[in-house]
Amino acid sequence: MSPLADALVAWQRTHGRHALPWQNTRDPYRVWLSEIMLQQTQVAAVLRYYARFLERFPDVATLAAAPLDDVLALWSGLGYYSRARNLHRCAQTVVNVHGGVFPPSAAVLAELPGIGRSTAAAIAAFCHEERVSILDGNVKRVLTRVLAFDGDLAQQAQERVLWQHAAALLPADRTDMPAYTQGLMDLGATVCALRQPDCLLCPLSGLCAARASGRMTDYPVRTRK
Ligand code: ADE
Repeated sequence: MSPLADALVAWQRTHGRHALPWQNTRDPYRVWLSEIMLQQTQVAAVLRYYARFLERFPDVATLAAAPLDDVLALWSGLGYYSRARNLHRCAQTVVNVHGGVFPPSAAVLAELPGIGRSTAAAIAAFCHEERVSILDGNVKRVLTRVLAFDGDLAQQAQERVLWQHAAALLPADRTDMPAYTQGLMDLGATVCALRQPDCLLCPLSGLCAARASGRMTDYPVRTRK
């Protein structure tokens, strides 16, 4: 039982986003590509690139076989080009080491080029309903506020503690994992804003320890970047 997960899942199903092109698919290739593009780029900018990219590289084998320059050309304008280089290397690893199939588990996905722990969890949760938590910058803000987590995230030991809290908050039912994961992302990107969180619209406000003390913007605690 997790009241937080229940509230977030219900909110995502009624108020979250459902029509983005990488939702409503469980194809790990499509989900992976979207998560890499969205790492440092806003949804609105990603949409056009995502469609063009899938037209040219409809599957992981096509991407792996393409010259790097073609990949970089289609990435041109998205920025952070190391993402495109890692994307290409990752596609080749999936083809050459994993027989062309993305490994299902988050732990194995996290070993692939360009896929960190949080991105690996997002892919595994969306595609396979694995009970693993994401913890990107937005989600750190949501969870440190809900928990009034005073640990300094500049310290790796404190970040590890937050990962443990994140795991403890997951829905019990794995079929809730896609909505829960998307809900954390949507809440962090919209309602639980950095400077002016819109707590009146937040499904977690009644559970939020920072809100209870009016200290929302004190979180997350981080002494240096
Ligand atoms: N940012 C990172 N992943 C995302 C997703 N799946 N949907 C919307 N924004 C995101």
